[in-house]
Amino acid sequence: MLRGVTPEQAAGLTWAQRARVEREAAAFFARLGARMRGVGAPGALIELAERASLDEERHAAWATELAERLGVRGPAPEDVAPREVVAGVPDDRRVLAECAALSCVTESLSTVALLAMRERATRADVRAVLHEVLRDEIAHARLGWAYLSTVDDARAKAWLGRELPAIVDGAVTDELLSDEPEDAAMGALEGLGCLSRATRRAVFVAALRDVIAPGFDACGVPTGALRERYARWL
Ligand SMILES: [Fe+2]
Ligand SMILES: [Fe+2]
Repeated sequence: MLRGVTPEQAAGLTWAQRARVEREAAAFFARLGARMRGVGAPGALIELAERASLDEERHAAWATELAERLGVRGPAPEDVAPREVVAGVPDDRRVLAECAALSCVTESLSTVALLAMRERATRADVRAVLHEVLRDEIAHARLGWAYLSTVDDARAKAWLGRELPAIVDGAVTDELLSDEPEDAAMGALEGLGCLSRATRRAVFVAALRDVIAPGFDACGVPTGALRERYARWL
């Protein structure tokens, strides 16, 4: 991956890619807020979703700026359409699954990853961005757990429990699970806010084992199927 580019440029490419992911998250939270309103979710939680969307726009701008400082000018931002987490279910279940996927799973993973990145970052501007983003992501994860704790429909929670393996699979890439050796130079990028695959996998396992599975347990969402799917780590 580092052939022909400096470590700064390689890290810059990752930050440019991250800007796109942040824009997608912004669109996702905006849609989630509207859908939460549609199912009569508490106003304070709808507001949190709307605020999260604005936070993600800000993260995208910071990621783009860092990419540029590292020597990479990304493509002009384009509209990103958020994916559908589930299809063919009533609106309240769709909101439940989206809160679980976007907030409980993705933002919890992101929080644990950002902690690891901040710990390793050696450049002041990279550390500053990681610090600010981390603060927001903690709030974004809380939104999902808070919404789940307002739901007292046991059948809906049992359904969500059965969806959890697919929801967590959706947050994992094949690359993360690959056993192919990674370019040793990737380790050099950790000071610039990019984690090696070994670190990212350790982050994933820690988040799943220590935050995500116990979080769903605490909200009364059965985690048997999730624990079976990821038995080698849970
Ligand atoms: Fe973000
Ligand atoms: Fe977020």
